[in-house]
Amino acid sequence: MTILDGKKVSNDIKDEIADHVQAMVAKGEKVPHLAAILVGSDGASMTYVNAKVKACQRIGFNSTLIELPDYTSEEELLEKINELNTSKDIDGFIVQLPLPDQIDEQKVLMAIDPDKDVDGFHPTNVGRMALDLPTFLPATPYGIMELLERYQIETSGKNVVVLGRSHIVGRPMSILMSQKRKAGDATVTVVHSRSKNLEEITKAADIIVAAIGISEFLTGDMVKEDVVIIDVGITRVPDATKKNGYRLAGDVHFESVSQKASYITPVPGGVGPMTIAMLLKNTLLARERHIK
Ligand code: GUN
Repeated sequence: MTILDGKKVSNDIKDEIADHVQAMVAKGEKVPHLAAILVGSDGASMTYVNAKVKACQRIGFNSTLIELPDYTSEEELLEKINELNTSKDIDGFIVQLPLPDQIDEQKVLMAIDPDKDVDGFHPTNVGRMALDLPTFLPATPYGIMELLERYQIETSGKNVVVLGRSHIVGRPMSILMSQKRKAGDATVTVVHSRSKNLEEITKAADIIVAAIGISEFLTGDMVKEDVVIIDVGITRVPDATKKNGYRLAGDVHFESVSQKASYITPVPGGVGPMTIAMLLKNTLLARERHIK
């Protein structure tokens, strides 16, 4: 069994981007600038956004973190988005999800300029992705494709089962995996809360992408020998033995599934760091496009 070391691969990607940034600096070009908007004080969201900002600093990007209180109105947020859309200095930006209840998520995502939408969540970019056109790929599925590629895991003609149909992970993952691309060309099945005979489906899978948001949902008896496991889940599970009172659990029961898997991502240190690396890659792409 091989651990798919997302931390290491993401560091390799960050080093590659940092080299690129140095070359930009040497040429006197402006370095990429990523902004992130965080509304409210959800602990997990704060951790993710801070990690994104820290990664920018490490590789030489400029970054701006905009923190808004949880009572922010939709109008105020849309105003802030408009500021970033029109700012000459900002190459790309993200609005960290989820948003508080008073704000309509779709309305917010649609307000982001597609050319600055480095999360790839705008309908224009989702459509471009579905049509195999150049675009910003959503960072988590993009990171998973990159991880499979760099470990040279064969996907062509394989049975890929995606657990979950979220707009951020499951849906785009299923589209990318079925497309004609390096990691792709797979036969894809999407399963969700209404799916029947789940175990029958997961047992036939060569590759499983677990993004269902239920901790340790996929267990060893649900998979076949030599399956490749990508665990997108990251849930805080109360744990009195930990200093901070919780441990991080994936959607996969690592102990039982890893005994059968040929490759498996750990949680943490698997998909999470890859997401950040691909967001940086998209931001670099945004900068390059703005230069052109
Ligand atoms: N919340 C969970 N994942 C993501 C992501 O990739 N981007 C944003 N903006 N919010 C998220």
